[in-house]
Amino acid sequence: MFNINPDIKKSPTLPSSFYRDEKYFEDSKEKIFTKTWQFIGDTDLVKVPGQVYPFTLLDGYLNEPLLLTRDYDDNINCLSNICTHRANIVCDGVDNVKSLRCRYHGRQFELNGLFKFMPEFEGCENFPSDKDNLPKIPFEIFNNFIFTSLNPYAPFEDFFKEIKERLYWFPFHKLRLDTSRSKDYLVKAHWALYCENYLEGFHIPYVHKGLNDVLDYSNYTQEIYKYCNLQVGMAKSGEVIFDESPEKNIAAYYYWVFPNMMFNFYPWGLSINIVKPIEKNLTKVSFLTYISDESKYDTGAGSSLDRVEREDEAIVENVQKGINSSLYKAGRFSPSRETGVHHFHLLIDEFMSK
Ligand code: FES
Ligand SMILES: [Fe+2]
Repeated sequence: MFNINPDIKKSPTLPSSFYRDEKYFEDSKEKIFTKTWQFIGDTDLVKVPGQVYPFTLLDGYLNEPLLLTRDYDDNINCLSNICTHRANIVCDGVDNVKSLRCRYHGRQFELNGLFKFMPEFEGCENFPSDKDNLPKIPFEIFNNFIFTSLNPYAPFEDFFKEIKERLYWFPFHKLRLDTSRSKDYLVKAHWALYCENYLEGFHIPYVHKGLNDVLDYSNYTQEIYKYCNLQVGMAKSGEVIFDESPEKNIAAYYYWVFPNMMFNFYPWGLSINIVKPIEKNLTKVSFLTYISDESKYDTGAGSSLDRVEREDEAIVENVQKGINSSLYKAGRFSPSRETGVHHFHLLIDEFMSK
């Protein structure tokens, strides 16, 4: 569809039309975002039986009302939050309940989504049936993080296996969400431009002076997997590194998972960045800060993240202006420094072509 060549040396970048045409922005909903795994939050959202957590999957883009529950068998469920009667939102607030009851005409559901009761339906034929249950949505839990996919293109393992295997030693169990250090950024650019910028360290010496002082750019590496890739930031000598890692002198592991998730591991913990399309030239990026070792917070490659983010935003918003120019059609890749961007463009081409 977009002629991305598997050989980076021969390939053009994505055409500017991908970022400019409303049709591609709309088509990406179904072709990319409903088919991939999306981050919801952590299991503390539904810590005890009876807890319910309604949320909108990619609010402002997919706009799918979903509901997390923990039922009385202590199982987590991810359900459609749309009443199977006449489509009212079933649950509209975080709560602790015995069962779910729609406020419109009183239909009730168990916390696992099973239809329970409906008033005034005597005589209604073939009722209730399976169609009256709240649809169950696939979800997966990885180290207390919950992900869902409306229509998974591939199993969760295909997206996350490499992180699990490589970071088996990482103290996931110590991570605590620090809301005071979490933040949303609004970026006036297409979501894919934001991701592409993340996917290369090529710009670090040019755009991030402070970060460049702690990373050893000559040894910065990129590894490509099926639906994710990894950039390894090597520390300059004397800088903060992972003491627990069997690998030496690592300042940061930057994992990106297709299409819109970034998992940045630092010696102090994990910064998760979720890229949420709003309009074709407007994106919300949620930074979630999970701390495992407070004493190392804001050191090394994981320091001044707010400043690094603003430096990235400024450059990506400039690219947004450039991508709208009639004089720009597509570019080319650096075979040594842009393998991550090339991988991203190949995946976009694959998903959009289906
Ligand atoms: S829409 Fe829920 S009971 Fe009617
Ligand atoms: Fe950057």
